[in-house]
Amino acid sequence: QPVDVTVVGSTNLDVTATVPRLPGRGETLLGTSLVSSPGGKGANQALAASRAGASVRFVGAVGDDDAAAAALAHLRSDGVDLSAVLTREGVPTGTALIWVEDSAENSIVVVPGANGSVTAEDVDRVADAGGLEGVVVLQGEIPTAAVARAAERAPGRVVVNLAPVIEVPAHVLTSADPLIVNEHEGAESLRLLGGEPEGLDEEGIVAALLAAGVPSVIMTLGSRGALVADAAGVRSTPAARVRAVDTTGAGDAFAGAAAARLARGADLDTAASYAARFAAGAVLTAGTQSSYPQRDAALPELDGQGRAC
Ligand code: RIB
Ligand code: NA
Repeated sequence: QPVDVTVVGSTNLDVTATVPRLPGRGETLLGTSLVSSPGGKGANQALAASRAGASVRFVGAVGDDDAAAAALAHLRSDGVDLSAVLTREGVPTGTALIWVEDSAENSIVVVPGANGSVTAEDVDRVADAGGLEGVVVLQGEIPTAAVARAAERAPGRVVVNLAPVIEVPAHVLTSADPLIVNEHEGAESLRLLGGEPEGLDEEGIVAALLAAGVPSVIMTLGSRGALVADAAGVRSTPAARVRAVDTTGAGDAFAGAAAARLARGADLDTAASYAARFAAGAVLTAGTQSSYPQRDAALPELDGQGRAC
């Protein structure tokens, strides 16, 4: 089966505690639940792309510990190709410590472990073996050199979600079609391209990214939907109106679902609208990957129509 989407990125075991609020410094607070579940921005995007109907390969690294199998469990059961996942000896699998407040907001500390060991040479080996196929999806949770090499070796379309922001070379951003960012990441991406976001509103940042050579941009704006931009201009897509329980990994759900639709031939607007619905479906329940909608699930509807800006 041909691979539609190859995600090169991180995989973590997420350890999530539910808390009424974040503790202050020096304070001990009682949490209400503790769950370990598969996460990591790369792996999350791979699962989202798979659930959105794409055949997916995940390229990344885990440690030689018990957390490795746990971190990859959902990808494995969903049939994602894990043949290019490296196991590092004596290194822990990446771990994310997550606090989800009653307000559904989250705070995350990521300890990269094996994710930090992925090199440009590792990416070359996968590429040489024909392992970078279809739409290549990149984020910011593995070393910059590996991200840059994957952008260079991608056989076709590249989707970049610059989360978290890392100092990628400009060519990574000018190969991103689309670059998927929130407002902060968009501003920082513009800086990496030598631009000045100061004083620009969201639309201004998106327009400046295009002017700086990014082929297309999707800027996610949470409950306000998203801006979609390419040579045809900037327009807006509404969000779905849902009651969020846990927004962890919603951005990853969006990026993975968008990549899956683009790989299957959708245009940017259709892919963004679908991704918004998929991501809305992912915030309805607790957890990251465990909350991603199943292939045939009914997704929330968008709250209105897209419009020109
Ligand atoms: O985007 C959510 C993800 O960020 C979590 O799954 C966690 O692993 C961190 O990487
Ligand atoms: Na969720």
